[in-house]
Amino acid sequence: MRVIADKVAFVTGGASGIGLGLARRLLAHGAKVVVADLRTDHLAQAGDALGCPERVHLLQLDVSDRAAMAAAAQTTLQRFGKVHILVNNAGVGTCPPVEELTYDDWDWVLAVNLGGTINGIMSFLPVMLEQGEGGHILSTASMAALLPTSNNFIYAASKFGVRGLSDSLRLTLAPRRIGVSVLYPGLTRSRMLQSEENRQARFARARPVGRLPGPVAPPPDAGMDPDEVGEIAVQGIIHNRPYILSHGEFRAELGEHFAAILAGFPEGQQIDPGRQMLEEARRAETAAAERAIAAMEHL
Ligand code: NAI
Repeated sequence: MRVIADKVAFVTGGASGIGLGLARRLLAHGAKVVVADLRTDHLAQAGDALGCPERVHLLQLDVSDRAAMAAAAQTTLQRFGKVHILVNNAGVGTCPPVEELTYDDWDWVLAVNLGGTINGIMSFLPVMLEQGEGGHILSTASMAALLPTSNNFIYAASKFGVRGLSDSLRLTLAPRRIGVSVLYPGLTRSRMLQSEENRQARFARARPVGRLPGPVAPPPDAGMDPDEVGEIAVQGIIHNRPYILSHGEFRAELGEHFAAILAGFPEGQQIDPGRQMLEEARRAETAAAERAIAAMEHL
């Protein structure tokens, strides 16, 4: 999507941290933005911070609530007439010590991070398809969707899900001129470490989560400026990048990690020609989708 000006964007978790940075940068590029967030206090602060009431609509929304997400799509259309950019950004994290895990921990993080992304797609994609003007879907994953980290497996499961569905959706939606990108941030200044405050009552656990084992938590002012992450993400939308990696300090480790994955193949294996043929046919399909994506970039 070469031009952001006058497009309509819907940003979940848009009232704090990375979502607010994204909303601010989308506005700076001339978009109209619906800022959707669970927390009315965050929304009030975001409204003051963003200003620009003629191009900003604040909306209370729990992304794990399917009916509310469907209503949010209608509200967006009522307010701005169209929707071109969906940003699935709302996210939470927890990972109690393994002895204390509950299903509520899994259900909460998966319902918000992965379920919220699915709900966004289910409610907004049909509108984009119906409009027939193309569009873009950006979802916020994390470096945790690319690199292993200890005591982070629930969050990693949710973010790997976002990555997997987005990679496939990107190939699927190319003929419809809808781009799909995933943002993989590293440490960014936000309220992420206070996520437990955003746990809905239906996912409450009997005992609160104590401090996680492992290194001390980073100081509150550590991490990249969310506006900087937001601008990198907006550039990713403009250039229709599949992988938007904002934090260069992970480059070397990611290279080592991919090398470790490739090392998992058996050495000197004879590959069955039938299997090889099937694989080549699938690769040709992927290459065709990638050519369609490259053509989109010239629109
Ligand atoms: P944040 O806590 O500052 O912002 C998240 C916003 O989402 C908050 O305003 C919160 O009220 C809202 N939210 C929480 N649950 C919600 C729900 N059920 N429905 C709607 N809104 C909800 O945190 P941050 O860091 O800006 O998080 C944004 C995204 O970035 C998340 O998906 C997170 O996983 C991801 N991320 C953050 C990193 C960081 O270092 N801050 C690193 C990697 C990824």
